Amino acid sequence: MPAYLKRALPAWLSLLAEVLIDLSLPTLMATIVNNGVMKEDISLIVRVGFLMLGLALLGSVAGIIRNYMSTHASQNLGTQIRADLFRKVQALSLANVKTLGTSSLITRLTNDVMQVQNLSFMLTRIFIRAPLMLIGGILMAFLLNPGMAVVLFFSLPILSVLIVIRVKRGFPLFRKVQTAIDRVNGVVREFLSGVRVVKVFNRMAYESERFNRANQDLAGLSIRAGRSMAAIQPLIVIVMNGSVIFLLWLGGVRVQSGGAQVGDIMAFINYFLQILHAMTMMSMIFTAGVRAKTSLDRIGEVINTESDIRAPEKPETPERAGTLEMDGVVYTYPGQVKPVLNQVRLQVKPGQTAALIGSTGCGKTTLVNLFGRFFDADAGSVKVDGVDVRALDLADLRGRIAYVPQRSILFTGTIRDNLLWGAPNASEDQIRQAVEIAQAAEFIDQMPAGLETRVGQGGVNLSGGQKQRLCIARALIRQAPVLILDDSTSAIDMVTDQKLRAALRTVGAQTTVLMIAQRVQSIMDADVIFVMNGGNIESQGTHQELLRTSPVYRDIFRSQIGLDLDGQEVV
Ligand SMILES: Nc1ncnc2c1ncn2[C@@H]1O[C@H](COP(=O)(O)OP(=O)(O)OP(=O)(O)O)[C@@H](O)[C@H]1O
Ligand SMILES: [Mg+2]
Repeated sequence: MPAYLKRALPAWLSLLAEVLIDLSLPTLMATIVNNGVMKEDISLIVRVGFLMLGLALLGSVAGIIRNYMSTHASQNLGTQIRADLFRKVQALSLANVKTLGTSSLITRLTNDVMQVQNLSFMLTRIFIRAPLMLIGGILMAFLLNPGMAVVLFFSLPILSVLIVIRVKRGFPLFRKVQTAIDRVNGVVREFLSGVRVVKVFNRMAYESERFNRANQDLAGLSIRAGRSMAAIQPLIVIVMNGSVIFLLWLGGVRVQSGGAQVGDIMAFINYFLQILHAMTMMSMIFTAGVRAKTSLDRIGEVINTESDIRAPEKPETPERAGTLEMDGVVYTYPGQVKPVLNQVRLQVKPGQTAALIGSTGCGKTTLVNLFGRFFDADAGSVKVDGVDVRALDLADLRGRIAYVPQRSILFTGTIRDNLLWGAPNASEDQIRQAVEIAQAAEFIDQMPAGLETRVGQGGVNLSGGQKQRLCIARALIRQAPVLILDDSTSAIDMVTDQKLRAALRTVGAQTTVLMIAQRVQSIMDADVIFVMNGGNIESQGTHQELLRTSPVYRDIFRSQIGLDLDGQEVV
């Protein structure tokens, strides 16, 4: 027997037992009234009474088993969907994430999954049961008294129509409610990540206003959605109660004329209420279904998003040499017209220390991101170790490149956790060495807890320069053939920067280093310097060569230092 059947079988059996017991109780009650009370047969009353009690007990046990199983099943479903979604989100490219929206992704992963989980809980708990009760109830009512059961032909269609209207009105509104939740999440997220700036610029009132607007939107929409669904509810109740009153009247007439027994009427009303209860349950599920449908759509949207960055079928595995190459590379950000990179061509050989310099916003970060394949070039080829990045397995590619991002990003945990992030198996010696090279040893040693010092969310309890040095150490520990430093010493003072570069040269022999810098002093001694201008590599060469050949480089140099290396004013 398959595993899922082994689990499903007890659930089905207990469900069946429960339905049968529920359906038998009114008939048993009619027996008590008709044959026991009316004929004053105490022993029958006691016997059937105990039978009912026993059945009711059995029914509750079955109910408990079923509830337990549906809770288990729906929680598992929710966990599974969340896990799948998270895996999918991790596989998405940066552009994908931007299109879907970060805060929307968070809502989808939490709130939307919860809606689906709710529905599955209700489905397994009551959905199968409600139709069974509905059909069983109608059947029993007809068996008991066909004449009275005709009432059902009138009330049930009216109720069904009302329920359908309610579901139809709710659907579009619930979609809007989920989007409004996205917006509230978005505002809170942005506020929290920029809370210091908000305070410094005294923008608390503005932010509160923004939050209030999003919050009120959400409340308004939720109320509208609720109201549109609720408007139908009184009608449903009127039809229900009207039918009961009518049945009571009809039953009274029949009993008086001798056409029916009192017990039958009581049982009939009971069946009728069971039927109505089943219908209400079904309408509740439809409501939950409406909410879950919008959520499912939103989850489906994520699952069906094809990542722009597709892994190759048969990845190549060249030797880990540490070569970087670009040829004819063009890249335009989505939604922009002017390309950021235009016909870029460069080559860095294994073991070389290369530098990239250029004015702010000229595309340096964009250029190095292409090597890590955060997005793909529109034209031209980007090669690592002689192979196009699109032909390499993503994990393999990123294993070849240690990257220090321009914005230092650290994670909650200890300093050690953060350092081991890219290389969980690094030894104590490797950690020490990386920390020394990155010039982080000195401040870590000063901390009472050393490597075990806790880093707050995003590294709030560290200075900008400290964070940068930790990020550099983290990259060094990976011992990848290529090390890319994106303006990673901008917050570090000149003296430390110099020490850092000297130390880096000791690893430089085996490692290809590509560093972006704003300060000429940081890169003067690089083997090759690329000068970026207007989306292109304007010129390349050593410091001395560039001083002679590149007007752009000479400008940068003069503006920063004013003198050439010999102390002569540069002309
Ligand atoms: N995600 C993005 N979407 C659209 N445009 C972007 C995006 N990121 C950067 N740009 C634009 O691309 C250009 C190059 O940005 P990039 O970050 O590569 O510059 P940079 O040379 O690294 O600058 P800096 O020295 O200030 O770090 C900028 O003009 C910027 O406006
Ligand atoms: Mg940059």
